Amino acid sequence: MGSVGAKEVPVLLTPDGRRIDGRRLDELRALEIRAGPLKQADGSAFVEWGANKVMAAVYGPREVHPRHLQQNDRAVIQCKYNMAAFSVDERKRPGLDRRSQEISKVIGEALQSVVFTEEFPRTSIDVYIEVLQANAGTRCAGLVAASVALADAGIPMVDLLPAVAVGKVAGAIALDLKKEEDNFGEADLPMALVPQSGRLVLLQMEGHMTEEELGTALDLGVGGCRAIYEKMKAALRDRYSVAPIEEAAR
Ligand code: CDP
Repeated sequence: MGSVGAKEVPVLLTPDGRRIDGRRLDELRALEIRAGPLKQADGSAFVEWGANKVMAAVYGPREVHPRHLQQNDRAVIQCKYNMAAFSVDERKRPGLDRRSQEISKVIGEALQSVVFTEEFPRTSIDVYIEVLQANAGTRCAGLVAASVALADAGIPMVDLLPAVAVGKVAGAIALDLKKEEDNFGEADLPMALVPQSGRLVLLQMEGHMTEEELGTALDLGVGGCRAIYEKMKAALRDRYSVAPIEEAAR
């Protein structure tokens, strides 16, 4: 531990380029995705990503509530991101705060850009994201879970939406920040990619980095998203793969 003023700052990067949990700069945390764990929802997905645990549930297309949000030419996507009171070290006050509202909005807009909403006019597609355990990168984990849940619900989309946060840690650009890196690092840059078109549909930044570093960060993030995309597709394949006839008969 080093110290800055009264704040204890952990060693975020060793001289040989290892991060606080032993990862290299371009390594993702362990990621497991399960499609369809919830029976009551039309579609669902559970994501364990590092120490993050996030559940997403999708309902719809169904009647719009409140009615005034109804659109005659398309479905509306209503997204609710919520962090459980027990999901963080210091108990979070339950309910909608500004951060949850902002995250719900950016995730909803990202999803809106890939769902074929015009196929379901005058309906709502409701997406619930519940963060059960948080360790940085929960908006990205939420988006990954939500997009697999939408696919599980059979809602037509241009593509799945892998997402990851890149950042600057001890002067270096690093993929997929964990909590200490997010807290004590110099920048945090969550992004979501439409893999087939290469279009970014979510991009936010806190902190600061140079233009050159931003280019490196975007490249690293896009590479990370492509690796995450493979895991998302594998989760859906696992859910819908048909057992060989001999096995099913056993
Ligand atoms: O989770 P994400 O990185 O998308 O969003 P953030 O606002 O940058 O939050 C980073 C992390 O701070 C969260 O993942 C939580 O681990 C933590 N946090 C917390 O401990 N208490 C809160 N009320 C909000 C966030």
